[in-house]
Amino acid sequence: TPPELIRNFCIIAHIDHGKSTLADRMLQLTGVVQPRDARAQYLDRMDIERERGITIKSQAVRMPWQRGEEPYALNMIDTPGHVDFTYEVSRSLAACEGAILLVDAAQGIEAQTLANLYLAMEHDLEIIPVLNKIDLPAAQPEKYAAELAGLVGGEPEDVLRVSGKTGDGVTELLDLIVDRVPAPVGDPDAPARAMIFDSVYDTYRGVVTYVRAVDGDLNPRERIEMMSTKATHELLEIGVISPEPIKTKGLGVGEVGYLITGVKDVRQSKVGDTVTSAQHPAAEPLGGYDDPKPMVFSGLYPIDGSDYPTLRDALDKLKLNDAALNYEPETSVALGFGFRVGFLGLLHLEIVRERLEREFDLDLISTAPNVVYDVTMEDGTTVKVTNPSEFPAGRIKEVREPIVKATVLAPSEFVGAVMGLCTDRRGQMEGMDYLSEDRVELRWTLPLAEIVFDFFDALKSRTRGYASLDYEPSGDQAADLVKVDILLQGDQVDAFSAIVHKDAAYEYGVKMTAKLKEIIPRQQFEVPIQAAVGARIIARETVRAIRKDVLAKCYGGDISRKRKLLEKQKEGKKRMKNIGSVEVPKEAFISALSSD
Ligand code: GTP
Repeated sequence: TPPELIRNFCIIAHIDHGKSTLADRMLQLTGVVQPRDARAQYLDRMDIERERGITIKSQAVRMPWQRGEEPYALNMIDTPGHVDFTYEVSRSLAACEGAILLVDAAQGIEAQTLANLYLAMEHDLEIIPVLNKIDLPAAQPEKYAAELAGLVGGEPEDVLRVSGKTGDGVTELLDLIVDRVPAPVGDPDAPARAMIFDSVYDTYRGVVTYVRAVDGDLNPRERIEMMSTKATHELLEIGVISPEPIKTKGLGVGEVGYLITGVKDVRQSKVGDTVTSAQHPAAEPLGGYDDPKPMVFSGLYPIDGSDYPTLRDALDKLKLNDAALNYEPETSVALGFGFRVGFLGLLHLEIVRERLEREFDLDLISTAPNVVYDVTMEDGTTVKVTNPSEFPAGRIKEVREPIVKATVLAPSEFVGAVMGLCTDRRGQMEGMDYLSEDRVELRWTLPLAEIVFDFFDALKSRTRGYASLDYEPSGDQAADLVKVDILLQGDQVDAFSAIVHKDAAYEYGVKMTAKLKEIIPRQQFEVPIQAAVGARIIARETVRAIRKDVLAKCYGGDISRKRKLLEKQKEGKKRMKNIGSVEVPKEAFISALSSD
């Protein structure tokens, strides 16, 4: 297809505003899927995605569309909606010339819509504002059309109104995409360059790489080169998805499709990288390549220690499909053998954990998530801390922590509540705008560590569920942070160490010691539970001594019964963890770690 007849676009929408339903409707109207095999949410592949209603992996579908005399090819590129995947979102956007800004006509704009809109604007995409779900009785198209027009420019009456469910307005939308989205431009005679915007592991075919061709022509008979690593691969297959893979004779300027090279690990085919011809390589890669950086770390441990090898194999398998997943073995006094795992964010953590538990049948416990700290010592050495228990002792000059730019959208009555929460969480206000009389956008800079720690729940409860939040990484800052250790009879319990702001250390210490006091069984001696910053004890509780005599109830001679009870006690002991001389059931640690 010549570039003049190609339109590359994506749909930007908040969760549940109807992106998948609209995408399905477009696939039907363009004849790509017949109504009877229009499975619910065609674009979302994995079960987890469907159940949670979120899209993790982006994909592209090519749809034919006749406008006047001309047969157009519309490439719909699916963007992940969630903040954890900002980098993947930005690569999908870079593959498009236009974006449909889809807003639920009964809900209005949400924070996620805004954050993705700003990204789309940074990529200079043509924005087409569209109100969805106009069939809903609760729809307020007039009100939200004005909001949308105010945001992206233009007149409220020009905001298209559609229903993905009934199909109303969707034909007009397809025409509007042809008319408004610019055709792709590129140099057909230059050496081939294509940008990878997604890379998915398939059990049967190995890695399937999704690309947007920019210059030249990718030819199925040539070897290709990944420009970031200079690795070359044989091209086994090249094609477009519509909605099943269809082989083609190549991909020319502006086209969107897939490549299969036989590699088995998505790390060999990285999102953002440039594909070129190995024989006639381009001089310069396309811009924007970045390695995925884990932002949040957590220890993952099997509840049953004998599952450790299964967990290791499961992580190795998941890694084939998730270039951002990053892990190394770790041992904890309290939890045994496990892994320290790096994630893009909290949702990524949840998804990985859920897949491990569901697909590999593992029961896991994870330690409280923490961010990465850069610690500079007075002697000039620097340490990257991904595990709080490894925070260096000694003379520290500076600790830096990652910060994020957060966007909160809330009804105006909650402005005070949101500002209070952000202030409590060491935030810095950057700006505030009224989107309409009753809805406000607040922009704050916040430490990522504060967001990782139940920020979203606190925001929801202070705004009765009405606020929405989005954030993106924004560098780091120096902060007054200390490590709080929890000690049982003087021995550190590694899984409970935390890095917190100096002013919050006392509160953390009091809370953790009180919690552990409740769950640690009495021993035959008194057990002090202490919280300490360095050598300084900041909180203390005591578990009183008790002598637990299992034989107390057996008077007299029944020797076999006695033996049984003693055996049983021994069994119980196997499940105990020794912290110094204190015996604690692993379950106690697990319940302490999972209760918030
Ligand atoms: P994510 O994948 O979570 O981002 O969701 P989504 O934006 O893809 O939303 P989805 O298409 O799954 O729709 C969310 C809900 O809204 C579903 O219950 C749909 O049935 C419903 N819905 C979608 N479009 C319409 C519409 O035009 N009218 C009505 N009444 N309901 C709709």
